[in-house]
Amino acid sequence: MARQFFVGGNLKMNGTKDSIKSIIEHLNSADLPEDVQVVLAPPAPYLSLAVDTNTHKNVEISAQNVYDKQSGAFTGEISAAQILDSGAKWTLTGHSERRTLIKESDDFIASKTKFALDQGLKVILCIGETLEERKAGVTLDVCARQLDACSKIISDWSGIVVAYEPVWAIGTGLAATAEDAQETHKGIRAHLAKTIGAEQAEKVQILYGGSVNGKNAPDFKDKVDVDGFLVGGACLKPEFVDIVRSRI
Ligand code: G3H
Repeated sequence: MARQFFVGGNLKMNGTKDSIKSIIEHLNSADLPEDVQVVLAPPAPYLSLAVDTNTHKNVEISAQNVYDKQSGAFTGEISAAQILDSGAKWTLTGHSERRTLIKESDDFIASKTKFALDQGLKVILCIGETLEERKAGVTLDVCARQLDACSKIISDWSGIVVAYEPVWAIGTGLAATAEDAQETHKGIRAHLAKTIGAEQAEKVQILYGGSVNGKNAPDFKDKVDVDGFLVGGACLKPEFVDIVRSRI
């Protein structure tokens, strides 16, 4: 089945009012293909600015993080309701920087993912192995473990996009080859077929993330299980538009 090409841009902890406005204005004026979905994730203080600046119907705004409670005494956290109130429709969960630096566990990420979905957000769920795990040949086991924490408590995956981001490829300039990414994505989809059912697994968009840029994005064009990208560094630059246009 045809899954829609999806490009996420994760600004991480970068940007100012001016620079984020100009990234979005650049997208507004770009000739984006009709059949692509673009989701941009600015830092939380700029969610409303991003929503208000965006004029493109194919572009939606995402938070980078969410908490698994409705509201209350959780200093520094952001609720799904607040994200929705800002006009954003998405959140990331499970990014490797939160798994490693903030020590978020598989179960906590699953809980946040479920809570966000239940509140009406769509979720880009990030998974992926470290270099050590890659070398040990356990890439798919790691991805399966991270996914299983979610599939244990989430039965409807229609609001989830999975982003496979090998940690060794993030911000290093060493992207996975399109062939390697395809092989892992195929394994991820096969695992999902076993846990959430073949029909849902076939519909889940699986993005590749890790040093994607305007030059290497077209290499992934023919890979049947690579449904798009989650882009970090390059989404801060005009070449983000080239990535969005890489399947034309
Ligand atoms: O969320 C995005 C990923 O961490 C990829 O980042 O494109 O800078 O390697 P990168």
